[in-house]
Amino acid sequence: MTYNILVVDDEKNIREGLGKVLELDGYKVLLACDGKEAVQILNRGDMDLVITDLKMPNLSGEEVLQKATTMSPNLPVIILTGHGTIENAVQAMKNGAYDYLTKPVNMDRLSLLVQRALSTRELMLQHRAMQEELQKRHQFSNIIGKSESMKKIFEVVQQVAPSRATILITGDSGVGKEMIADALHYNSPRRDKPLIKVHCAALTETLLESEIFGHERGSFTGAVARKRGRFELAHLGTIFLDEIGEISQNVQIKLLRVLEDKTFERVGGEETIEVDVRVIAATNRELKSAIENGEFREDLYYRLNVVNIHIPPLREHKEDIPLLMAAFVKEFSEENGKSIEAIEPKARTILYDYSWPGNARELRNCIESAVVMSKSNIITVDDLPPHINTESDQEFVRISTGSTLATIEREVIRATLARQNGNKTRAAEVLAIGRKTLHRKLQEYGL
Ligand SMILES: Nc1ncnc2c1ncn2[C@@H]1O[C@H](COP(=O)(O)OP(=O)(O)OP(=O)(O)O)[C@@H](O)[C@H]1O
Ligand SMILES: [Mg+2]
Repeated sequence: MTYNILVVDDEKNIREGLGKVLELDGYKVLLACDGKEAVQILNRGDMDLVITDLKMPNLSGEEVLQKATTMSPNLPVIILTGHGTIENAVQAMKNGAYDYLTKPVNMDRLSLLVQRALSTRELMLQHRAMQEELQKRHQFSNIIGKSESMKKIFEVVQQVAPSRATILITGDSGVGKEMIADALHYNSPRRDKPLIKVHCAALTETLLESEIFGHERGSFTGAVARKRGRFELAHLGTIFLDEIGEISQNVQIKLLRVLEDKTFERVGGEETIEVDVRVIAATNRELKSAIENGEFREDLYYRLNVVNIHIPPLREHKEDIPLLMAAFVKEFSEENGKSIEAIEPKARTILYDYSWPGNARELRNCIESAVVMSKSNIITVDDLPPHINTESDQEFVRISTGSTLATIEREVIRATLARQNGNKTRAAEVLAIGRKTLHRKLQEYGL
């Protein structure tokens, strides 16, 4: 693409001299001999940069600047000024000029400045385009995504939200499972009724059971009064059971019954309670393998998994990264009173290439810290957390929480061996174990 540059100066030699140099640099140059002519050219609306003298007959450079910045806020204007009038140039910068050059113009400086101004403009335009795209359809509730996989998820959410169907949301940590649960509730007819959330991994077995189903007074030590459980509180609304893979057998049985006939009893109670609650569950654990290990009931799994919404890890829909970045930059710029207008290309590439083991949550945290760290209105590589910068030198093994120690050991051994191109002696060295031990483990794990 060729950029259009408007050069405005009443001195013929200067404007033509600058024009020649810029044309040699590959730009398309338009010349104007005063402010009036400049404004006529600006009105065409296709200029990418303006270089203007200040003192000219008819309209002054200040007026050209004003016209340019109001017409198009990202249009850079470079001021030409004599030594005696630098103060005016400084004032022009306060009024929105990009920079100034003193006459006689150093042509190398000119080339460099023009290049820099144009690439900054390009970045800002890109960023703005992304912000505008964000206003469009690529959102469902607050969930951002325009990749095929995210669009499919939005479709399913829209389709199943109005029903009473039980939904199991699966996916790694930080992919947005809770956001989907929120969207399901708030797009359902139950939206004005409670959405009750239970974090199943955070409580011990007894506490969890009484938290979910409530208890009668004296049913266990510490149960000093009757307590209504989350299912009762969620009546007519939705209950979100997060980390469902962590619940005990006992709670699994009770849950199965609620799903089957909507009834249960409080811990230590006899009264049968009936509720109308829509159940949404989430897990980042492979429930299939928990079933094989006998840790999770298969019948409950099928009851929960009436509709499955699986959210893929971010590295599998990288095309959403730019949009997510734009959204988080906006969010944290506003929160921190900053006006970040772009992320420099090198930083963008690093953010795009990173594998994001913590998914959108990690990206969000990373952008928050970059916004806070940034010293200008452009996020640079230096603003990024160091580990994101250096990842390319290392190799990672991905293991989901909920894995057994044996799985962790097996995966690390497998990856180390692969990294050492199958050389067992070197792999044993890296793992700091003896060759014999390595052999034994390879056999044990069937590697
Ligand atoms: N598609 C998305 N659009 C915007 N923000 C997102 C998206 N996905 C995740 N996030 C952000 O990431 C954070 C984590 O999302 P959420 O809590 O829903 O993840 P999760 O899958 O429930 O994770 P965990 O398994 O660790 O509980 C949210 O605070 C949200 O800001
Ligand atoms: Mg969650």
